[in-house]
Amino acid sequence: MIEILEKLHEEVTGRLERCGSPQDVEQIRVDYLGRKGGKLTALLRGLRELPAEERPSAGAELNRRRGEVETLLETRLAELRRQQEGAREGGARLDVTLPGNRLERGRIHPLTRVTDEIIDVFTGMGFEIARGPDVEDDYHNFEALNIPRDHPARDMQDTFFVSENHVLRTHTSPVQIRVMETRRPPLRIIAPGAVYRHDDDATHSPVFHQVEGFMVDRNITFGDLKGVLTHFLEEIFEGDVRVRFRPSFFPFTEPSAEVDIGCNLCRDVEDSCRVCRGSGWLEILGSGMIDPNVFDFVGYDTEVYSGFAFGMGVERIAMLKYGMDDIRLFFQNDIRFLRQFPP
Ligand code: PHE
Repeated sequence: MIEILEKLHEEVTGRLERCGSPQDVEQIRVDYLGRKGGKLTALLRGLRELPAEERPSAGAELNRRRGEVETLLETRLAELRRQQEGAREGGARLDVTLPGNRLERGRIHPLTRVTDEIIDVFTGMGFEIARGPDVEDDYHNFEALNIPRDHPARDMQDTFFVSENHVLRTHTSPVQIRVMETRRPPLRIIAPGAVYRHDDDATHSPVFHQVEGFMVDRNITFGDLKGVLTHFLEEIFEGDVRVRFRPSFFPFTEPSAEVDIGCNLCRDVEDSCRVCRGSGWLEILGSGMIDPNVFDFVGYDTEVYSGFAFGMGVERIAMLKYGMDDIRLFFQNDIRFLRQFPP
């Protein structure tokens, strides 16, 4: 009897160690203490068959063992319940309803954004994109654009020289030459890119950006220039714009015109307006009919072809669009400035 009880005790201890859940503990209780078929219960029932003088001591031993088993079951049950709760708390620390770690999304730089908008308007009118080198030779930056050696636009004040014969391009107009050298009309081209001038204050940066554009074919007139540029300005300033073409001069266009838009800030002539300084107009781009001298440089027949060209400053357009008064904000990369533009 003692041996049987010892064996059962060992069995229970072993099974309790291996079990993994309160349900397993319950099964062990049924197997040993269950009213029907429980192994200890069966032994207790068997007491009746023992001789009367052995019954008291055997009964006492059995009850002691049953008490032990009950304690073992309770202890293991409590342990497993604690583990389960611990697991649940661990789960709470991973609350899936909490907002996750936010991935910071980058933004398009306002200059890239405005450049893309400009490109979109022109590609919508059938223009293609072309690019040229930032380090340009004298011929493409000046000579072929009808800016001879002694022209004031070559002033050392404005141009960064890389070597005797190479400069950081002072405008995107050399792309006109590079495209026309290799292709024949009809052409509708825009050329965005960085340009460089020796100038640095609130409205001038030594590096800034232009978008050049030109169109060459038979029978291109100043009317085409006006139509294309007016449409462009209405698109880029969302219809809310007055446009004025004012006679001007560029060596590579004849006739030339600067294009002004009505001042959006004062809407009228206000002397105090810090944007237009009371004139009511803002210069926005340079343009004109491509000078026949330029066509001569690229070998186009000036009796057959005509065209117009224009160039605009991206920073200037962005500053007017966003109401900015300091160009340096574009290049300081202050996150507080850049965050103001939607992703
Ligand atoms: N290249 C001129 C500038 O930088 C702009 C321009 C381009 C004017 C094309 C007329 C035609 O100021």
